[in-house]
Amino acid sequence: MTKDARPAQQDGTIDQGWSFAETMADVASEGLVHALEAERRVEPRSNVRTAWEELLKDARVCTRCELYRHATQTVFGEGPLDATIMFVGEQPGDQEDLAGRPFVGPAGAIFDAALEKAGIDRSTVYVTNAVKHFKFALRGKRRIHNKPDAAEITACRWWIEHERALIQAPLTVALGATAARSLIGKVVTISKVRGEPLTLADGSECWVTVHPSSILRAPDDAARKEGKRLFLRDLKLIKERAAELAA
Ligand code: URA
Repeated sequence: MTKDARPAQQDGTIDQGWSFAETMADVASEGLVHALEAERRVEPRSNVRTAWEELLKDARVCTRCELYRHATQTVFGEGPLDATIMFVGEQPGDQEDLAGRPFVGPAGAIFDAALEKAGIDRSTVYVTNAVKHFKFALRGKRRIHNKPDAAEITACRWWIEHERALIQAPLTVALGATAARSLIGKVVTISKVRGEPLTLADGSECWVTVHPSSILRAPDDAARKEGKRLFLRDLKLIKERAAELAA
């Protein structure tokens, strides 16, 4: 019986005193012990799913800051709960707000294309945002993205930290300054920290790179091309490092 096969308790922690398999081995047939062990092995992850679903339910009715008042809905994270890599963006945009999913608009298209080029399958990573509601200003009928402020980022850390605690991805990627600020807890200059691992409070690794929308905002084709090249370089490094951490 490996340590990982021990059952998680309701709160997701491991019961250190558990010795169920040892006891059963003495009294039950080998087949029954194997069946029980298999069941125990999946239990920790199913507890994570239950806890994540509860978290999602709570996040859907979040009123921790004022952003919920004008947004269509909470846009929570998505992806496998045992992902090695967690990507954290800033906040949902107009299309994400309507769809209820992260990174499905123009920034998502840049993100998806870069992931594909880097050989990272999006269905294998967890994708979320530092802030879960769309913040915007109305200009006529258009909803123009507004950056979340420090209080909104701090209020929303409640959700991202719970997501991180459940998923326990060994590698978290901050896409842009808002995500970096939320994860690291202070303002960082992306050009100074990109391309190398930082250590988060829980001991896991954080890599900081640009937000894909910075590529969309590039002033000309040459800058856009260079932005894409550097983003791809970062994603390739991240992929390599995630493979090392998962090995
Ligand atoms: N920008 C983000 O930071 N997140 C999204 O989900 C979409 C755009």
